[in-house]
Amino acid sequence: MTSAELPEFPVPGDVGEILITSEQIQARVAELGHQIASDLAGEVPLLVGILKGSALFTADLMRAVTGPVEIDFMAVSSYGDATKSSGIVRIVKDLDAPVAGRHVILVEDIVDTGLTLRYLLEHLSAQGPASLRTCALLIREERTSREVEVDYVGFAVPDAFVIGYGLDVAQRYRNLPYIATYTGPT
Ligand code: IMP
Ligand code: MG
Repeated sequence: MTSAELPEFPVPGDVGEILITSEQIQARVAELGHQIASDLAGEVPLLVGILKGSALFTADLMRAVTGPVEIDFMAVSSYGDATKSSGIVRIVKDLDAPVAGRHVILVEDIVDTGLTLRYLLEHLSAQGPASLRTCALLIREERTSREVEVDYVGFAVPDAFVIGYGLDVAQRYRNLPYIATYTGPT
């Protein structure tokens, strides 16, 4: 199949404004990686990515940590209304190895209310990690009160549904290299 036969991607009308370019993401991820390596110098941080949204971010962040680092992943599903966070989370995939004594950094794609992250923090802190930090590629700038403290923040985004770089709408558009507003059908 030649490129002329490929359907247009992204679908026309789906992508609104590009809020954060691929270059901006990579530059910020590099800074966060250096920051984590320096904050945990002499330790081996364990990055815990929350699937699936933070898969791309976690992989790039790991490459940006200029020192020894490990990754693991958890998958969660929220109960109830998919568009509104309930804070009641079911763990679909737990960690492969115990985190007792480890320096853990929970890595999220976007923190909105923070309810998802708070649940995971409580779940992991019960296992006795040496330290437990949080990292989010995105937070919502309008939200002044969040359920959790985010230690490492990539960018603040406006109160619009965003896609790209791991973030999806109905599982699509995670592969866009930038963060953009979604303006397609809902
Ligand atoms: P919270 O529990 O309210 O902090 O919701 C965070 C979760 O909601 C994230 O892990 C995302 O999966 C999802 N989410 C929130 N806003 C967006 C968005 O604009 N695009 C894609 N996913 C989002
Ligand atoms: Mg998520």
